[in-house]
Amino acid sequence: MAEEKIIISYNGKSSECPVTIGTENEAAMDIANLRDDTGLVTLDFGYKNTGATKSAITFLDGELGILRYRGYEIADLAEKSNFTEVAYLLLYGELPTKIQLDEFNSKLQANSDVPAEVAAILKAMPKGTHPMAQLTAATITLSGVYTKDVSKATDETIINVLAKFPVLVAMVMRNYEGLDFIPNDKSLDYVSNFLNMAFGKKASPVITEAMDKLLILHADHEQNCSTSAVRMVGSSNANIYASICGGIAALWGPLHGGANQAVLEQLEQIEKDGGDTSKFVAMAKDKASGFRLMGFGHRVYKNFDPRAKIIKKSTDDVLSDLNINDKKLKIAMELEQAALHDSYFVDRKLYPNVDFYSGIIYNAIGFPTDVFTTLFALGRIPGWVSQWKEMKENKEPIGRPRQIYTGATVRPYSEIGSR
Ligand code: CMC
Repeated sequence: MAEEKIIISYNGKSSECPVTIGTENEAAMDIANLRDDTGLVTLDFGYKNTGATKSAITFLDGELGILRYRGYEIADLAEKSNFTEVAYLLLYGELPTKIQLDEFNSKLQANSDVPAEVAAILKAMPKGTHPMAQLTAATITLSGVYTKDVSKATDETIINVLAKFPVLVAMVMRNYEGLDFIPNDKSLDYVSNFLNMAFGKKASPVITEAMDKLLILHADHEQNCSTSAVRMVGSSNANIYASICGGIAALWGPLHGGANQAVLEQLEQIEKDGGDTSKFVAMAKDKASGFRLMGFGHRVYKNFDPRAKIIKKSTDDVLSDLNINDKKLKIAMELEQAALHDSYFVDRKLYPNVDFYSGIIYNAIGFPTDVFTTLFALGRIPGWVSQWKEMKENKEPIGRPRQIYTGATVRPYSEIGSR
C-alpha cells in the first residue's frame, strides 16, 4: 500500500520514493529506484534500519515487547497451542481445524524416517565435532537423497524437512555423546518422539510440555540473522536443505542462537569463580574487557523480551518437577536484578533475552551444553521453512546488497622483482 512519496535530491537529480505502510502501521521508504535516479545507494551496517522484505508471518514491536505469529500473541500460543499447530499456523497462515492438524501430524510422522546415510555421515565426523556442524552435515546429506523439486516450495518438500529435523537433532546429540541411536518411533507425537530419541526414555509430562513451549517460543522471529540467511541462500534458488544449512550456520554464532550455550557456560564460570555476580557485571560495563553478559540485549527488543518472561515461568516448573535446586538459577536471578537496576543496562535498554533462561531448562532436562543451539534450530525450523516458502511464493529476486568500495583505486600491476 503506497500512500505518499518522499523526494530525495542529490547532485541535482531527484528520486520519488514511495512510502509503504504495513498492517501494523510500520512505514518504509522504498528506495528501489534511488540509485537509477540519483546514483545514491543506502549504507546500513548490520541492516539496522533496512527492511529486506514484506512478510505476513511474524510481527514484532521491540519497543513495546510484542511478538505475534500470524496475529496471535506469543503468550496465548505458548499457553494454549502446541508446537506442530504453531508450525502449521506459520506455514499456512491460519490455525488448523482438528482434521487439518491430525492430517498434518500424520504426515509429519509418516515422513520422519531419515536415510541410513545420515547415521553413517555423523559417525564419520571427528569425535567432538560441534553439534551445529553435525546438524549442518546431517541436513545437507538429505539433499543427496531427496532431489525432486527441492528448490520449489511444494508441500512434500516442506513436510519432509519438518518431519525429519527432530530425528536429525536427536541423532546429532546421541552421536555427540558417543551413544547409540534410538529408533524413530512413528507412534509418538513430534515432541515426545524427539525426547525419546534424545534420551532413550519417555519424558515426564512437565518436561514434554516445557520442551513444546520452548519450541513454540523459538518458532519464528521475523528477519533475524539466521532467517535472513535462509532467505538469502534460498533467493539464489538453492535447494531447501542448502538454505536451511545457511540458517544453521548463522544461528551457531554466540551473538545469535549460540548465546544459549554461552549463557550457561558463563553462569558456570561465575559459579566456579565463587558466584560474585557484581564482578561480572562490572566487567560487562568495562568496554576494555571485551566481556559481554550473554543473554542480555537484543537488536530489536528495547523492552523485556516477551519470550524470556514465559521461559522464566517454565524454568521454575521444570526445576521444581525435577526437584533441582540449581545454583546457576540463583546466579541468573542476581544477574537479572543487577542488570535491571544498573544504569549501564537501563540506559542501553539491555534486558534478558530468550537465551538467558532457556539454557537453564535444557540443562535441567539433561541436554549437554554443546547441543543447546541445535534445540534452538529445532524450534526455528518452522520459521525458516515458512519464510523460505513465503519468499518463493512472492517470487522475490536474488538477494544481492550493494557496497561502498573503500579500497585502492586503479593502479598498474608491478612485477614481483620490483615490489
Ligand atoms: N553486555 C554488555 N553490553 C552490551 C551487551 C551485553 N550483552 N549487549 C549490548 N551491549 C552494549 C554495547 O556495548 C553497546 O554499548 P555502547 O552503546 O556503549 O557502545 C550497546 O549496548 C548497544 O549494543 P550493540 O552491540 O550495538 O547492539 P546490537 O543490536 O548490534 O547487538 C546483540 C545486539 C544481541 C548482538 C547484543 O546485545 C549482544 O551481543 N548480546 C549478547 C549476546 C546474546 O545474548 N545474543 C542473543 C540474542 S537473542 C537470541 C536471538 O534471537 O538471536
